[in-house]
Amino acid sequence: MIRKGFIFDLDGVIVDTAKYHFLAWKKLANSIGVDFTEVQNERLKGISRVKSLEKILAWGNKEISETQFSQLMALKNEDYLNYIEHMDASEILPDVPRVLNFLKTQNQPIALGSASKNARTILEQVNLKSHFDSIVDGNDVSKAKPDPEVFLIAAQLLNIAPENCIVFEDSVAGVEAANVAKMISIGIGDASILGHADYVFKDFTQISNQFINNLINR
Ligand code: BG6
Ligand code: MG
Repeated sequence: MIRKGFIFDLDGVIVDTAKYHFLAWKKLANSIGVDFTEVQNERLKGISRVKSLEKILAWGNKEISETQFSQLMALKNEDYLNYIEHMDASEILPDVPRVLNFLKTQNQPIALGSASKNARTILEQVNLKSHFDSIVDGNDVSKAKPDPEVFLIAAQLLNIAPENCIVFEDSVAGVEAANVAKMISIGIGDASILGHADYVFKDFTQISNQFINNLINR
């Protein structure tokens, strides 16, 4: 039997939490007098919490103390946690369960590869945790996407060579990380933003079981 490693990003791929990250970052940026646009948000997708705040401060030309930095990080997460507190399975993105279940029927190993330190909480809340053979999140890595560390650890845990892994990603940084890891990158979202992915689909409703089968057998 052929086994490939299927690695899923979380935010914006499995659940629509990208909108909550955006709202929380925008509120925080505006509170310190920094503008925050959708275009800037795109550049924060997939990036760790620390790196995100560093970028926002750089865009706004702000310098703050280490203490203030920690306070702002905590504030952002508090705000974000308020958004995700009420999440349930209804916020799983369309056809994600169908693809996860299909992979299971084909005995394919499945991992999560997320930059978020809240990933495990969210997976539990939407009742998907048991679908994953391995979980790698923001607590397990020292280097943020576009560094490939998160996906390489996931491949190692699945015991599958990186070139036999397939990554589903909605972020520019995440697709880059998958490419650097020499994995097949599948962009979920806008082809004009994720043009560096091997394949791009608007969402999982566009990904057929046949396509998945081809990935398994390629
Ligand atoms: C990524 C998101 O998955 O996780 C980013 O795309 C987010 O927007 C990052 O900043 C870190 O998440 P968290 O939950 O640890 O703040
Ligand atoms: Mg994402």
